[in-house]
This record gives sequence, structure tokens and C-alpha cells, in this order.
Amino acid sequence: MSDKKAQLTVDGIDGTIEMPVLSGTLGPDVVDVGKLTGKGLFTYDPGFVSTAACESKITYIDGAKGQLLHRGYPIEQLAEQSDYLETCYLLMNGELPSAEEKREYVETIMNHTMVHESIVNFFKGFRYDAHPMAMMCGVVGALASFYHDSLDINDPEHRRISAHRLIAKMPTLAAMCYKHSKGQPFMYPDNNLGYAENFLHMMFGNPCEPSTIDPIVAKAMDVIFLLHADHEQNASTSTVRLAGSSGANPFACISSGIAALWGPAHGGANEAVLNMLQEIGDESRIDEYVAKAKDKNDPFRLMGFGHRVYKNFDPRSRVMQGICDEVLGAMGAENDPLLRIAKKLEKIALEDEYFVEKKLYPNVDFYSGIIMKAIGIPTDMFTVIFATGRTAGWIAHWNEMISNPYKIGRPRQLYTGYTQRDYMPLDKRK
Ligand code: SDX
Repeated sequence: MSDKKAQLTVDGIDGTIEMPVLSGTLGPDVVDVGKLTGKGLFTYDPGFVSTAACESKITYIDGAKGQLLHRGYPIEQLAEQSDYLETCYLLMNGELPSAEEKREYVETIMNHTMVHESIVNFFKGFRYDAHPMAMMCGVVGALASFYHDSLDINDPEHRRISAHRLIAKMPTLAAMCYKHSKGQPFMYPDNNLGYAENFLHMMFGNPCEPSTIDPIVAKAMDVIFLLHADHEQNASTSTVRLAGSSGANPFACISSGIAALWGPAHGGANEAVLNMLQEIGDESRIDEYVAKAKDKNDPFRLMGFGHRVYKNFDPRSRVMQGICDEVLGAMGAENDPLLRIAKKLEKIALEDEYFVEKKLYPNVDFYSGIIMKAIGIPTDMFTVIFATGRTAGWIAHWNEMISNPYKIGRPRQLYTGYTQRDYMPLDKRK
């Protein structure tokens, strides 16, 4: 922290309002505006563009440098040298595990992959064409109905077991969404497989024959989960924190995060990118769509481009592009037409002065969909994959908040509605 101060003078308010300025280990200083209410003032910052809503030690993003650190470790190094479950441990506990800690953690997670058999009945209630994200919102929230023994959020052991259950069961539930949409039998987890391998087994396996999982695809899937694991105070993580600040149970909080992630401006962008590339359909039409994206009167945006924080490249997008080349190359699909359109679109956009001036670069969602499509994952499952990976970050932020002193989140407003007026009886109205 620091002893820096900020002084504010406001017309109509006597004197100067002095506020503490706090410094973190990295990133901008923050002005603690807590005392403004006592002076009859609120701050006003729709979309929280300039607002730090909490203190956190989990993830740091430097948008100007294209830097993403998880507990201080660069995402590029984690993607190259770590794996998803080790990153889950790091996000939650703050340190990389020892060999024994890692073995024990992986064993714990893999021993919680099954869901209660009654969950099967939940899926029977969904239409065959239900969107997987709609199903995930429902079934993840409903998990709370099975764990009455461990919902005391003030008990660290209950928080720990809930975190393990959520990380372990998200792939199982995600695969169940896919199997439901295909009318195929659900696959039970195989705890002898790795986390991502097991997910692919539950997605693409069937009870009639043994699963054959390509190790390149399994590794790519694990890195995709890892790249989506956490991203500071994004919209869905902030939703999880806000829901958690009321004391809601972790399953309900993660369900609220899934709901927020679904939007096309956030996690739903990966599905929107694929739909956009398929709509563009041919390299010859790229200029037409770039022009639409630049037209202020056209609501169309180039999906997979731009970011609230990154005003340089999104480091995850660069790793994702590398995986894309590797997986499609391994599958002999390096000439995939959508990949060709994506690469041409990226090149054109990065050379276009509109995108350069507005600092719009490909984000994590731009290439992820192409990889997932190549793996055989349907477009409407892309955001479910994002939610599965992001569960680690959501639950780490939830735990960080609940483990420290916190207040219920309750923003104020700038009210511009009617001043007080008397009720108008029905017979007096026009
Ligand atoms: C994720 O927050 C996170 O960390 C999110 C995430 C995570 O890991 O949790 O990184 C995951 O959500 C990535 C973003 C995925 N969304 C998309 O790809 C959808 C397309 N992108 C945009 O909708 C937009 O860029 C946002 C929502 C991502 C960011 O929006 P901001 O920060 O509110 O910026 P803005 O909308 O104010 O845009 C600034 C300007 C605007 O033009 P002007 O009003 O200044 O004239 O840039 C333009 C926008 O019109 N712009 C775009 C654009 N994105 C912004 N123009 C064309 N195409 C785009 N994609």
C-alpha cells in the first residue's frame, strides 16, 4: 500500500476531499473513494471501465504489454510447461504443487468426476435441441441440491470440497450436454485417464467400443482448458463474486458465472466467431465484413477481436494460434477453409487503420473455435468448454473473497427518473 493521497474539489462542496491512493505490487494505483458517500457523492463508471471492484492476488493482466500472469507465472510458460489441473491448484492455493501435492490433488479431482445418477433425470427434461449452455446453467446450479453436507461457505473444508467437486464434475456435465443433444448414452468417467483425455472419452466414446483418444488432441484440449482458466475480474468472474458476496452457495455462484459467460460479447464469442467465419464463407467476402465491422450504423462486430483490457495482442490468442496450426496439421486439415479465412481476416484487420487506431487485436476466442471444430466439438458446445476451463478461476476468486473480509456488493446509481409525484386514480388518467 502507499501513503499517497488524491485531492478532489467539487463545486458546491466546501473544502477539498482527500482520499487515500493505494498501490498494488503491479498495475495502476487505485483511489479509495469510500468516503465520497459521506460527502453526498457517488462515482459514476458504467461498465466499470475505470473501477477496481476488489483486491486480488490471483491473476494480473497488463493490457498494454499483452501480459497475463497467474500467481506471477506467465501464461505462455504455464501453457508450455504446466497442465490444466496443476494450474487449477496454482490458482486456488497460490503456489505450484510439489510432486506429492500434485499427485494427491489429481487423485482427488479424478475421484470426484462422477455425478449423482439422479442428474440423468435432469437431462431427460431438456428438449433434444436445448442449447448446452442453457443445460449447464441448470444442472450446475442444481448440484447444490446434492451436497447439503458441505454448503457452509465459512468452513474452509466445505469450500475446498466444493471447489474439487466443481472442477471435477464440469467435464462430466459438459459431455452429458453433448450426449443428450446426440441422443447417445452418457459415458461414465474413466478415472484412469487424464483430465482432458477423460473429457474427450466422455464426449466421443460410446459403450460399444473402447475409446481411442489422439494424444495430440488430448494435449490441445488440456491447453485450451488452461488458457481459459482465469482472467482477473472479467464479466463472469465479477458475477461470481457479486453472487458470492450475498452468501450464496458455490454451485449457485458458478451457475451465475456460466450465465454471464454465455453472452456473445464475452465467452459466447467463440461460438459467434465460428458462425461469423461460416457466414463470411469465402476469402473474397472478408473486405465486405471488415467494412461492416467499421460501419458505426451497423451493429456487426468482428467477433473474436477487441478486448476491454488488452490493447495489444492477447497472449492466449498467440498460444491458441500455435495449437491451431499443430492440431489441424496433425489432422491433415491445415488447409481448412475456415482457418484460411481466419488467418486472412486477421491479417487484413491488423493492417486496417480502424482496428489499429482502436487497438483491436484477436482475443482468446478467435482461434479456439477453429481448433474445437477440428476436434469435432460442435459450435454450440464451444462456450461450455470455455465455462469448464474457467471454473478454476471462478472458484478461486470466490474462495479468495469468502476467505477474507468482504461486504455484499451493492452498487449505487445516477437516478434520472421522475421526482416524487402523487398516485393518479384510474378514472383521472387520460
Ligand atoms: C472475452 O474481460 C475479459 O477478460 C474477457 C475474456 C476472459 O477471458 O474472460 O478475455 C473473454 O470475453 C474476450 C472478448 C470476446 N468478445 C468478442 O470477441 C466480441 C467482439 N468484441 C467486442 O464486443 C468488444 O471488443 C469487447 C466487448 C470485447 C470489448 O468491448 P469494450 O471494451 O466495451 O470496448 P468498446 O465496445 O467500447 O469498443 C471500443 C471501440 C468502439 O468503437 P467507438 O465507439 O470507440 O467508435 O472499438 C469498437 C467499438 O465499436 N470495437 C469493435 C470491436 N470491438 C470494439 N469494432 C468492430 N469489431 C469489434 N470486435
